[in-house]
Amino acid sequence: MALENHKENVKGRAQILAIGTANPKNCFRQADYPDYYFRITKSDHLIDLKAKFKRMCEKSMIEKRYMHVNEEILEQNPSMNHGGEKMVSSLDVRLDMEIMEIPKLGAEAATKAMDEWGQPKSRITHLVFHSTLGTVMPGVDYELIKLLGLNPSVKRFMLYHLGCYGGGTVLRLAKDLAENNPGSRVLVVCCEIMPSAFHGPPSLQHAHLDILTGHAIFGDGAGAVIVGCVDPSGGTNGVVERGVRRYEQPLFEIHSAYQTVLPDSEDAVGGRLREAGLIYYLSKRLSNVVSSNIDECCLVEALGSAINNNNNNNDIYEDWNSLFWIVHPAGRPILDKIDAKLGLNKEKLRASRNVLRDYGNMWSSSVLFVLDEMRKGSIAQRKTTTGEGFEWGVLLGFGPGVTVETVVLRSVPTTKLK
Ligand SMILES: CC(C)(COP(=O)(O)OP(=O)(O)OC[C@H]1O[C@@H](n2cnc3c(N)ncnc32)[C@H](O)[C@@H]1OP(=O)(O)O)[C@@H](O)C(=O)NCCC(=O)NCCS
Repeated sequence: MALENHKENVKGRAQILAIGTANPKNCFRQADYPDYYFRITKSDHLIDLKAKFKRMCEKSMIEKRYMHVNEEILEQNPSMNHGGEKMVSSLDVRLDMEIMEIPKLGAEAATKAMDEWGQPKSRITHLVFHSTLGTVMPGVDYELIKLLGLNPSVKRFMLYHLGCYGGGTVLRLAKDLAENNPGSRVLVVCCEIMPSAFHGPPSLQHAHLDILTGHAIFGDGAGAVIVGCVDPSGGTNGVVERGVRRYEQPLFEIHSAYQTVLPDSEDAVGGRLREAGLIYYLSKRLSNVVSSNIDECCLVEALGSAINNNNNNNDIYEDWNSLFWIVHPAGRPILDKIDAKLGLNKEKLRASRNVLRDYGNMWSSSVLFVLDEMRKGSIAQRKTTTGEGFEWGVLLGFGPGVTVETVVLRSVPTTKLK
């Protein structure tokens, strides 16, 4: 393998110990969505726009998505149904929905992660929560603590409004917390439910059709992981209950984490929370901005600390196929261009493409779904490690800025999984 030998995890490095995911119950088939969306927003008369939206949906490679907002909710809250240019005050109803629903879905994902982890919840010492929407005081993290029955003295870090790169940010923060607080266990949750981002279609004449693009690809979902540093000797691993030790099972090591802003990218993706909800912009340039900078600005910098130059391990730069990849499923053209730029084999972005196909782009939660898909797919295909048989991997989260989070991961041999 190109980097350090696949030894036991270095003592003291943070590890991902469990993963859980959850989605709202409303599932929409992509093939039916253009008809559904234009019908419930009473926009069937916008024939050309609907045809364009169909083309977007067809090219998205998405097969289904889950969303909280459905026809019934829209009927009850007609102010949410406005096009891009008609700014109708509706923030109150949108925010109220988010504040109510985000902790519940986050708790569902967190409960699955904690069940897999198998340890008493009293061992959770920190909570890192990201949600793009749902601002409230105290934050949705406070509600989550109550829903999960966690200790009120759990140290909370609530992050709002990061957008799609937040899934990398939470891992970077959790790594620092776990490695600098001996014995700590960090519950990490990203939950994206987007009533503030639901809008009726804009008119074709509208300068920005970004709302239409977003409606073709975005979905709701929550991902949760538990992060901690497990003693590699096994001595203090897990808890003993009725004389039986319940071990913690590392799935990935978080080796290093790196954040950067891409050059000349300010106008590529962003948003403003307005009285009419979240008004976002998604430039067609985004896929080029990300793919053209991904190697020099992100990968080389992030992997630098992991590579042992003294052992002639630079070959990783010559073949990115020697890594496993957890890339934010931002959209099909972005994955295609990253593939092309890095010369990746067809199957390398399998996990990201599967998540895009089955859930769409769920903003910050997406990379946690890809992480889950990566280890499950590796086990199902009898690969030797949780990283599809590879030792080292990269998780890429990107979004407004354009900000990129590059997290270097190390897999675990699947033979070690109990
Ligand atoms: C929508 C999408 C699936 C279309 O796939 P594609 O390979 O770009 O296909 P095309 O280039 O044929 O575009 C299809 C139509 O969408 C339009 N379109 C694509 N991206 C657009 C954008 N950002 N804004 C407005 N219109 C857009 C094209 O102009 C085209 O319109 P036309 O059929 O009337 O000519 C793809 O562009 C996508 O996933 N975009 C979103 C990426 C993104 O911003 N993700 C969030 C980042 S965190």
